[in-house]
Amino acid sequence: MNILGIHTEHNATAALILNNKLEVAISEEKFVNIKNYSGFPLNAVNHIMKEYNISADNIDFVALPCYLNSTELPTQERLEKIRKGVINPLLGSYFLATAGIISSYFGFTTPFFEGFYSFYQNNVKKGPNQKAVINLLNRLFGFRESQIVFVHHHLAHTYTPIGFFNLHKQKEPILIITQDGYGDLLAGMTGRYENGKYELLGTTSFVDSTAWIYAAVTKYLGMKENEHEHKVMGLAAYPPKEYGMKTYEKKFKDLIEVKNAKINLKYKTFLPTAYVLFVLRDRLYRERFDNVAFGVQQLIEEKITEFVRQNIEKYKIRNLAFGGGLFMNVKLNKKIQEMPEVNKCYFMPSCGDEMNAIGAAFYVLEQHGEFGKSDETMYLGKEYTDEEIEKYFAENNLDKRYELTKVKNPEKEVAEMVNEGKIVGRFCGKGEVGARSLGNRAILADPSKLESVEVINYAIKSRDFWMPFACSVLEERFDDYAIHNGKSLPYYMITAYDTTEKGKKELKAAIHRKDYTMRPNVVKKEHNEAYHKIIKNYEKLTDIGGILNTSLNIHGYPLIGFIKELFFTMDNSHLDTVQCGDFIITKKSK
Ligand SMILES: [Fe+2]
Repeated sequence: MNILGIHTEHNATAALILNNKLEVAISEEKFVNIKNYSGFPLNAVNHIMKEYNISADNIDFVALPCYLNSTELPTQERLEKIRKGVINPLLGSYFLATAGIISSYFGFTTPFFEGFYSFYQNNVKKGPNQKAVINLLNRLFGFRESQIVFVHHHLAHTYTPIGFFNLHKQKEPILIITQDGYGDLLAGMTGRYENGKYELLGTTSFVDSTAWIYAAVTKYLGMKENEHEHKVMGLAAYPPKEYGMKTYEKKFKDLIEVKNAKINLKYKTFLPTAYVLFVLRDRLYRERFDNVAFGVQQLIEEKITEFVRQNIEKYKIRNLAFGGGLFMNVKLNKKIQEMPEVNKCYFMPSCGDEMNAIGAAFYVLEQHGEFGKSDETMYLGKEYTDEEIEKYFAENNLDKRYELTKVKNPEKEVAEMVNEGKIVGRFCGKGEVGARSLGNRAILADPSKLESVEVINYAIKSRDFWMPFACSVLEERFDDYAIHNGKSLPYYMITAYDTTEKGKKELKAAIHRKDYTMRPNVVKKEHNEAYHKIIKNYEKLTDIGGILNTSLNIHGYPLIGFIKELFFTMDNSHLDTVQCGDFIITKKSK
């Protein structure tokens, strides 16, 4: 079966399941060079249909991961308005906002929204937004209404780890937990997956959204909500625990109660979570910024691990899978995998909304009695042949500014350059889907020297001074550097680990400078042979089994996917050497 997944909102993305196999997933941000681009992913859909020679006739279904908010037109402008507070997305539906306020006050939010959710599923067929999307898909690509399926936002999150990790092959039941800001009126869903069947066990309504609190604190601290939460997480490690805990106990702890395996917001207000910023502004007045970061991080670590614990106890399932933007928080994931009650956990790599294009497609596939296949890698973007690279170079007269040299053993050359202290870009193989570089669109540097951080920051990234870099580590050397229990997969930079003494020394520029945790991309030979070879060559030269890896982009721009943005990045930064396929590209001195 061939299914096209299209996510149309925050970080819009298109994905293709071809003959039941996850083949490609590309976010629109990579075409338009706007991070987390929100709107219809027109370029991404066009690209996939052209590259894979597909049309409405050979696609079985188009799966869209939302009921309520599928928007026809690009919504970047709308998003900006939301950010500036000109419009509030929840006020779009006066009924829902009012219902949220009333139900929050009387303490029956979750039952109310569960009722609404099942009513909606059973009775409301197509809303006006959905009709607009159907018309658009028909007009642009010729898809018929019968081919188009809408999937609940959180079911799509649920099916991201199911499909990506081939969980239908697991013998034991798996408890799947999703949490995010909100989507289709829910901030989370909990369910059991066993023998290829999913059963919904519980929901978290959007008025009880922990991720929204985190986003509100991000905004309170002067950063972009829904984008800079990782910066708050990075900052949270800095204050002394005693000070941070004071802020947590006084200002955050009572915001949320976890009871009977449910999350409930407890603060006394008529307003639902969407308005939590107003509450926090009063509460956090004159609290130190780093203690505030600590407080909100402690809040989600304490409350979500408690939520997970209660669900494990209630349903007696110790193998877990997670989806939804809250689990982009690698420190939260670290705490979950360290829980003694947890047996195994699958954190969906880059588990934000972009992956819902994949989740919705897998869901529709299973609804039609078939299981998907996935290579369990995030390399789902465009790959360039040497001929394509040469052609692009010639067509754009790049020889005026750059040298393109074909080399016999690029993996050896890159390792040698990094060993000589150079910062080297890598643009090879298929581009990564999601937020994290896993080596194919990467900037590489010596992980053992703190100067690497300064040089990268000066030359390319201008990263916030407190933010750590990350590392790629050979699978066979992971034990040397990380303290881990083997409960989660370390390949995707989606969870953090404490480091060994060797890790603190040899990877010092690629771990958190305060708490010395690492968020590695462990490189398995079968996942990425060429990249594995680079680190292996580097190990031969230095005895270090890892390399500093940061995403190939300029600060504030998305991780690049295409060759055009490679030259945009090189043109607008001091990055002057990049491995591109079998070539080394160098800037000509002026
Ligand atoms: Fe979401």
